[in-house]
Amino acid sequence: MISFTSPTTSLVLLAIGSAYATTEAGKWPYQTFVTEPDFHPPIFDIEKNEEAIAEGLILFTPSTESRANIAAKELASAMIMTDDGELVWNGDTAKPQTNLFVQQLDGRPVLSHWRGTGSNTGHGYGSTTIVDDTYSAIYEICLQGDFVTSDGTSHDCYNDLHESFITDEGTILVTAVNATTANLTSVGGPPDGWIWDTMFYEIDVKTNETVFRWSPYEAGISFNQSKATFSSGDAGDGTKGTPWDWFHMNAVQRIGNKYLVNSRHTWSTYLLDSKGGIEWRIDGGDGGDFVLPFADLFRWQHHARGYNLTDSSVEIHWFNNNNTNWDNTTTTSGLKLSLDLKEKTATLLEVFEDPTDPIYTDSQGSFWPLPNGNTLIGYGSIPKIKEFGPDGNPRMTLTFGENDLVMSYRSYRQIWHATPHYPPKACGSDKVVYMSWNGATDVTDWVVYGGSSRESLSQLGKVAKDGFENSFNLESFAAYVRVEAYDGSKLLGKSDVVTGESC
Ligand SMILES: *[C@@H]1O[C@H](CO)[C@@H](O)[C@H](O)[C@H]1NC(C)=O
Ligand SMILES: *[C@@H]1O[C@H](CO)[C@@H](O)[C@H](O)[C@H]1NC(C)=O
Ligand SMILES: *[C@@H]1O[C@H](CO)[C@@H](O)[C@H](O)[C@H]1NC(C)=O
Ligand SMILES: *[C@@H]1O[C@H](CO)[C@@H](O)[C@H](O)[C@H]1NC(C)=O
Ligand SMILES: *[C@@H]1O[C@H](CO)[C@@H](O)[C@H](O)[C@H]1NC(C)=O
Ligand SMILES: *[C@@H]1O[C@H](CO)[C@@H](O)[C@H](O)[C@H]1NC(C)=O
Ligand SMILES: *[C@@H]1O[C@H](CO)[C@@H](O)[C@H](O)[C@H]1NC(C)=O
Repeated sequence: MISFTSPTTSLVLLAIGSAYATTEAGKWPYQTFVTEPDFHPPIFDIEKNEEAIAEGLILFTPSTESRANIAAKELASAMIMTDDGELVWNGDTAKPQTNLFVQQLDGRPVLSHWRGTGSNTGHGYGSTTIVDDTYSAIYEICLQGDFVTSDGTSHDCYNDLHESFITDEGTILVTAVNATTANLTSVGGPPDGWIWDTMFYEIDVKTNETVFRWSPYEAGISFNQSKATFSSGDAGDGTKGTPWDWFHMNAVQRIGNKYLVNSRHTWSTYLLDSKGGIEWRIDGGDGGDFVLPFADLFRWQHHARGYNLTDSSVEIHWFNNNNTNWDNTTTTSGLKLSLDLKEKTATLLEVFEDPTDPIYTDSQGSFWPLPNGNTLIGYGSIPKIKEFGPDGNPRMTLTFGENDLVMSYRSYRQIWHATPHYPPKACGSDKVVYMSWNGATDVTDWVVYGGSSRESLSQLGKVAKDGFENSFNLESFAAYVRVEAYDGSKLLGKSDVVTGESC
């Protein structure tokens, strides 16, 4: 007869309790699992104080710069984790991914993320996947068209990695890049130069049809708004192989029937009317159409989002890099401004910065307001996530890699409940049964069954879920095992029956 002993939590302790250590550049400790050998979520270095942090899970896409070594590459995927460092969901590990977050589509929460091929110019070619709360793919948005690339390659889909914003109208805004020729004599370049035209498309999620498209080049925005001056840094020298990235669109939001567009390289955020006409521009350097509280307030910024837009005011949040690869001088912050749209003035509401931990972010980053009044900041090319209280003081820092080696384009904290359409996984090894269920958020308990034949499995015990993977010690070997996942008394899913030596 088979009986059981108490469950072991040794794996969980190993995962969370491992010392934070970086002995060699680029090698970051990561968790491993018996049931999911391809998953390698980072071990978080966690700092929290006594003050309240918001509810919700951390959604991010740890990946590596091309110069990072293989150990750091292990971390690459889209991931959902708890702020205590437990993995909840790991996306596939086949392709680079960005911008994993929960959005509303047709009044229900969906999870979206970009998957594709990153380019060495900071753009990407891929598609946006939308899954429901069972992780069933419900829409795959794939932009196609006569796109020109700098190296002549063609791609199945041309969604750029920077944006995938679902609107209240059931459309999605995605960025895209096209290499195109332009007369660059006004900025000291050749008359037959090449630029990156970074633009956005609004696509109907259900029909895949483009309903709107906007290009800053076609809109006639002057090249002289660019602060990535011609041929500076790594913004390109205007040849076919390295087009000049004069605009670098990295965030687009629809507000009512208008669009808020952010350009990293003009240090500007633009409000467009429904037809793409520019209503105003705020320039972080000289203000553009606005008077700033001080010059060079924000530079090379990301993730612009507007709130409460009326005819007379709007609040805008940015991740203010204030840095780039060729201009790495100032610390990075989260920034909140209120704009008076009648007087054309900008008022500083808040700057989020941790005085004990100055950060210099060259690229990427996110600003995410939380329902409890806190703010979550993801530091892009610096692998840290900080949560600040309404008073602007830091309450939590999560670190998941070495600076400038591991990154996450954006990072979010959101409420997400999901029960996968696929079954939990179980495997047996000697007298231990391991179990996990990638993406299940609401499991409270596991019930373990075992027996000498597939047909005669009996309940061997119950273990409270603890971490991504649980293990359960049997008193003696069971030839066949399976597990069930419960939320309290509600059965959520059953694994397949597997052999006792299947791990
Ligand atoms: C890309 O630019 C080329 C010109 O270089 C143009 O023919 C083509 O239509 C553009 N594609 C898109 C999608 O804008
Ligand atoms: C390029 O623009 C300049 C003005 O900046 C103009 O003088 C010149 O004729 C243009 N060249 C071409 C080939 O269009
Ligand atoms: C959109 O087009 C892509 C590429 O053809 C396709 O994979 C996807 O299923 C389409 N989506 C819809 C909703 O038709
Ligand atoms: C930028 O170019 C526009 C025309 O494209 C011109 O009106 C403006 O004076 C220029 N600004 C500067 C600072 O050169
Ligand atoms: C951004 O950098 C500029 C130039 O160093 C600096 O003057 C400005 O204060 C910085 N902005 C913020 C919000 O710190
Ligand atoms: C927007 O306005 C609502 C209602 O006045 C307010 O509760 C909310 O805090 C505002 N949000 C922002 C980001 O200003
Ligand atoms: C940017 O500057 C900071 C402060 O001097 C430094 O710690 C960091 O390594 C620099 N980053 C890069 C990518 O050079």
